[in-house]
Amino acid sequence: MLSILIDAPTGDFEMEVIIQESPDSAARVAASIIARLIREKPTAVLGLATGGTMEPVYRELVRLHRNEGLDFSRAATFNLDEYIGLSVEHPSSYHAFMQEHFFRYVNVAPDRIHIPNGNAADVPRACREYEDRIRALGGIDLQLLGIGRDGHIGFNEPSSSLASRTRIKTLTQETLLDNARFFGEAESVPRHVVTMGIGTIMDSGQCVLLAFGASKAEAVAGTVEGPVSASLPASVLQFHENVQVIIDRPASGKLERTEYYDWVYEGKPDWQRYE
Ligand code: PGA
Repeated sequence: MLSILIDAPTGDFEMEVIIQESPDSAARVAASIIARLIREKPTAVLGLATGGTMEPVYRELVRLHRNEGLDFSRAATFNLDEYIGLSVEHPSSYHAFMQEHFFRYVNVAPDRIHIPNGNAADVPRACREYEDRIRALGGIDLQLLGIGRDGHIGFNEPSSSLASRTRIKTLTQETLLDNARFFGEAESVPRHVVTMGIGTIMDSGQCVLLAFGASKAEAVAGTVEGPVSASLPASVLQFHENVQVIIDRPASGKLERTEYYDWVYEGKPDWQRYE
């Protein structure tokens, strides 16, 4: 009887909380979700993210490309966000981040890589064209997401419309300070950005959100167990049908139902596990 239960599909896909013992093992879970998608659908459209949290995810994807032939040649990518007014060559631009951590090592076709243009002469128009291009390629199959301490996804800071599309946003002072580590000092961090909207993110077929460390614990708890609110933008993911929240133990520190999440994950049949 028990084995029948264990072998049955669990169906727990809506907001699946996967707690791992280290950022590296969490990154491996995320990369294997992406790898499975690419193998099943080589033309998959990936929504990509930047930030320190994503570095081990890209390391693992690069390893899978090199060692296991994971082939990105027919995939397309759309990044979440970019600073306004920062040259794409600036080492802290997200264009530079993506080259440094991912694109230079893998075989995504350059004409299928999309990153918001923070230097367009007409940024609002470039934002509309970005949305058009996503639609033209059939929509995003899987969106990778980090989360800010304030609960932002992409650069959708608290109070962002839950229906928003790609547009210009002003960063909070908290985010400016958090990102100053990539710039040297907060004064150099651009105040304005282009970001996919929350509505754009919610249109993707699957969302994979990662968070590491105790500093993210409150935002993670609000995302998974708090009320849905524009004051904590990531909480809108409770309305999405297919979300994996992949975190390390310290980031799970303020969740109340960790035993249940572990129980669900441990009870998944092998074919539904991501490692
Ligand atoms: P981080 O940023 O991965 O550098 O912590 C995440 C975010 O702000 O979305």
